[in-house]
Amino acid sequence: MAKDGNYISAKESRRISRENRKITSEIEKKRKRKHIPESEYVTQMKDPDNCVEFDNVQTHYFTDIGTVKAVDGVSFSVPKGKTVGIVGESGCGKSVTSLSLMQLVQRPSGQTVGGEIRFDSGEKVINVVNAPEKVMRELRGNQMAMIFQEPMTSLNPVFRIGDQVDEEIALHFPKWTKEQVKARSIEMLGMVGIANKEGVYKMYPHELSGGMRQRVMIAMALSCDPKLIIADEPTTALDVTIQAQILDLLRELKSRIGSSIMLITHDLGVVAEMADLVVVMYAGRVVEKGTATEIFKDPRHPYTVGLMKSKPVVGKHVKQLYSIPGNVPNPVDMPNYCYFRDRCERCTEECKGAYPPMVKLTDTHYVSCYDI
Ligand SMILES: Nc1ncnc2c1ncn2[C@@H]1O[C@H](COP(=O)(O)OP(=O)(O)O)[C@@H](O)[C@H]1O
Ligand code: SF4
Ligand SMILES: [Mg+2]
Repeated sequence: MAKDGNYISAKESRRISRENRKITSEIEKKRKRKHIPESEYVTQMKDPDNCVEFDNVQTHYFTDIGTVKAVDGVSFSVPKGKTVGIVGESGCGKSVTSLSLMQLVQRPSGQTVGGEIRFDSGEKVINVVNAPEKVMRELRGNQMAMIFQEPMTSLNPVFRIGDQVDEEIALHFPKWTKEQVKARSIEMLGMVGIANKEGVYKMYPHELSGGMRQRVMIAMALSCDPKLIIADEPTTALDVTIQAQILDLLRELKSRIGSSIMLITHDLGVVAEMADLVVVMYAGRVVEKGTATEIFKDPRHPYTVGLMKSKPVVGKHVKQLYSIPGNVPNPVDMPNYCYFRDRCERCTEECKGAYPPMVKLTDTHYVSCYDI
């Protein structure tokens, strides 16, 4: 990166992009081999009670201005049947973490260059970082389901709802007849709380409200009874009442199907309501993690404390919501010191040193800060 941190010469940029091509084409070549032996991607869980284990995961974007370490050494687990909330301001690396798990990071510039993501598929444990595309397609279709923020962009406006849900179900159950598929589609629409399910089956996406479209998306995502539901800001585009209904729905479905949920949000209210465990991310790293009680009752990292202060509380009237001064740093060529330092009120002499190590407070509560 250039001296002043923002400007970069054309020559420098060309040099970086040449270097990037070298790195990414090597990774791509390895990934695109015809036969990838199972020994490279079949592994064991550290703890068999977990559904997913992120272990020192590093996902970088090789851009013309430098390497963006969007996810930089992230470790946490999603236990079976539990909900893990991932929180942090916009740009902290929450979405890239979930895209890494699905292996949907934008390639070739984006690559998971280090660490393991172990996923228990029931039969085998797969390290998705090294898994070939064929294995990933199988996992994405049948075991992991993703619910995105904006349902309108995920539904095709020119096809009826029924056709789109049918297509998804036919993909999972290729041997079913048309009638069987349709029956299942309508059953799924009912399951996500759509009262007029036969009517909605025949409608186009634009005829539905945002909340209804999100229900349709959830019905599609859940049509395969996934082991893991990844919900990335599932309620951000919805108004508060609908938001509550969608969260209720997720909770209910989770207990019915028994799946785990990875819930990504910048809204602490949502996390408080839904999560068993909480992971707080800042600039591509986990700064604190613990049970929901530990994080809400005893937050230790100044960033977590700041997030708590910025959360609206029912019955407490404030003129203006608190917001943490400053911005999340752009994770290009980050220096090796606490990334929160420039925004931290508790910064001391010690904080000028190396990036703070993760300290264990309890079996579940960890924090990466010198002042705990
Ligand atoms: N395709 C991309 N190319 C370059 N940088 C990206 C790309 N996608 C995301 N990033 C960067 O990765 C970081 C993390 O992004 P993201 O995971 O989307 O944040 P969040 O979901 O927490 O808001 C951001 O700094 C973002 O600019
Ligand atoms: S390590 Fe220091 S600068 Fe970083 S969050 Fe903790 S107290 Fe603040
Ligand atoms: Mg995001």
